Amino acid sequence: MKSRPSDPFARKSIKTLLSEMTGGERLERVLGPVSLTALGVGATIGTGIYVLTGEVARNYAGPSLMLSFLLAAIGCGFAALCYSELASMVPVAGSAYTYAYATLGEVFAWIIGWDLVLEYAISDAAVANGWSNYFVELIQHALHIQLDPRFINAPWDFEVETGTFYWKTVTLASGATVNAWCNLPALIVTAAITVVLVIGIKESARFNAGMVILNIGIILTIVGVGSFYVQPSHWQPFFHKDRGWYGVAMGAAHIFFAYIGFDSISTHAEEARNPQRDLTIGILGALTICTILYVAVAAVLTGMIPYMEINVDAPLAAAFRSKGLGFAGALITCGILAGMTSTILVGNLSQARILLAMSRDGMLPPSFFGAVHPRFKTPWKSTILVGVVVGLGGALAPLRFLADLVSVGTLFAFLIVCGAVLILRYTSPAIPRPFRVPALPFMAGMGLLVNGGLLFWLGKDNWIRLFVWLAVGMVIYFAYSRYHTHIAKEPEDVGGGVLE
Ligand code: ALA
Repeated sequence: MKSRPSDPFARKSIKTLLSEMTGGERLERVLGPVSLTALGVGATIGTGIYVLTGEVARNYAGPSLMLSFLLAAIGCGFAALCYSELASMVPVAGSAYTYAYATLGEVFAWIIGWDLVLEYAISDAAVANGWSNYFVELIQHALHIQLDPRFINAPWDFEVETGTFYWKTVTLASGATVNAWCNLPALIVTAAITVVLVIGIKESARFNAGMVILNIGIILTIVGVGSFYVQPSHWQPFFHKDRGWYGVAMGAAHIFFAYIGFDSISTHAEEARNPQRDLTIGILGALTICTILYVAVAAVLTGMIPYMEINVDAPLAAAFRSKGLGFAGALITCGILAGMTSTILVGNLSQARILLAMSRDGMLPPSFFGAVHPRFKTPWKSTILVGVVVGLGGALAPLRFLADLVSVGTLFAFLIVCGAVLILRYTSPAIPRPFRVPALPFMAGMGLLVNGGLLFWLGKDNWIRLFVWLAVGMVIYFAYSRYHTHIAKEPEDVGGGVLE
């Protein structure tokens, strides 16, 4: 049926959203508060803390990286509260995408959904890239096996300061300088994770819980053992010598990536046993746990090594190695690899569920993105597609480029979530809110201010990349989605955007 185009500002009623939660091909309700918090921690701890800390300390913040972590956490905290209120009101799969559909209108929902592809799929490509750094560290430094450098680097890179792109060259054992081809370990780990995800959510959550326990254990070991090697004199000067106070804000913007993922819990509402209570516990719990761990790691790392000497590829393993703790460094590297594996796992899991929610609305072809596997009960086709995109992204693009692009996209989504929760309180005060943000105008306002500030510090090049990404999304919306959404097919259902 050829439909009329929908009204881009049409909103979906919460009644419709909730009625959609019954019947049809549903996902299983198997996740409790502990599993949800673990999923959040699993999605969050990864390349940010394990890899980017080195570069951010060196280039922007120095030991004041501890404050950068706190500042970024404050921005996330305001957004997390807003997420929690919306998640408790709209307990269906889809995260900020679904909230935007209920509050701001279809075109905003599309923008957010498209933006969330950045947050999940592209960020997992960045994590797969960071995973490869530690894998190479383990093989080359612990096992002393040299890998062919052409297959452990993306074929191009760029200069952060000038924004110049260039082909990446590497030096072979023979001394010849050649072009890098691809980051093969990033591709392989993504393929393995995709298989686990297709097999089932229960298995995925169980696998993830094991990884998270190991991951937290490794971070506590890093902090515990590393603290014996801290020299407080390394914390002086506290601020980066060239950046001063500004370095804290710039550092927060560039390390923001480390926090991305806690909000992914909101994509699992459909699989939560008690979504209205447990999503809030999971979101706030995961953010709190990660903040404490991150500040502690930043303190230990910058206390162990003068910040200008911190390694940028595998900073924590290198710090331990430099103190003669090669064995501990290798153990830590194994834990880090496990932690990053769970980050990719949860990110890919969330991405497939957002695509599922979008396809149920007709924004994307449901026959592909909505297909739930009859035996495994997972959205298998989109899971495989996400695996392909993440694997290729991780293999072919450099980490710093991916990480900042993801941060700018996520901050943009946070701004919309903070704005949406504020608008909804006034436009639809009667909807039950099992969780209400206290002092909302202040909290949401601060969320807009702090996250807007971080977006500002990511700089013009990243805004342009976000703009291009969103422009591509708009082309898809106006060429396909607008003609296929259920609102377009059944205009009488719109009901003037009522929310009650
Ligand atoms: N927060 C996730 C990480 O740091 C994306 O890897």
